[in-house]
Amino acid sequence: MKQAIVSPSILSADFVNMERDVKALADWGADYVHCDVMDGVYVKNITFGMPMIAAIKKISPLPLDVHLMITEPERYVEAFADAGADIITFHPDASRDPSAALDLIKNKGVKCGIVINPDVSLDDYIALLDKCDVLLVMSVYAGLGGQKFIPETLETVKKGRAYIDERALPTIIEIDGGVGASNAALCKAAGVDMIVAGSAVYKAEDPRAVIAALKQ
Ligand code: DX5
Ligand code: ZN
Repeated sequence: MKQAIVSPSILSADFVNMERDVKALADWGADYVHCDVMDGVYVKNITFGMPMIAAIKKISPLPLDVHLMITEPERYVEAFADAGADIITFHPDASRDPSAALDLIKNKGVKCGIVINPDVSLDDYIALLDKCDVLLVMSVYAGLGGQKFIPETLETVKKGRAYIDERALPTIIEIDGGVGASNAALCKAAGVDMIVAGSAVYKAEDPRAVIAALKQ
């Protein structure tokens, strides 16, 4: 099977040592840096915004995969593109016009995608995949690291996979939440191309080995 793309989430990094923890990802063999932006409105938590993305961009050898958990993302996607995001994904249920938001991202030359929470039906947004570079399927409810993987969300992965394959779209499928070495194979079998892992990487004794296992 094709190797998965691995995008560790810095939500589980040590915020005091962010430079060290971002740079380490390249040494450990990761492909992207997953940056979780939360606004305290769409989700309860608040993390960081554009200045943090710009700061990470300055020191990161890897491209930035920016996951926006914010309400009305269309107000900010261009600013996140300017801050240095290489991929921007947002929750379409948080947007007034998801199709227009995707266009704003694309017009900045940045890869775009939608994120589907476990309680959101992909059916309501599936036609958007025609213009998405990425479909991000949440395997936990967005908002917190370290939650337990919800296996039923793999049905959304399969549905997305079928739609993408039928139309031969270049869209890749990313999964986020509770993923580690023990369930990565399950995700890949369902059709996942790209894996986000926060605690599984940063809390590991040997992060390099975990990332290698996620890829296989
Ligand atoms: C949750 C975030 C995830 C989270 C993943 O809202 O989108 O990216 O950091 O963390 P783990 O891998 O610990 O579930
Ligand atoms: Zn995320």
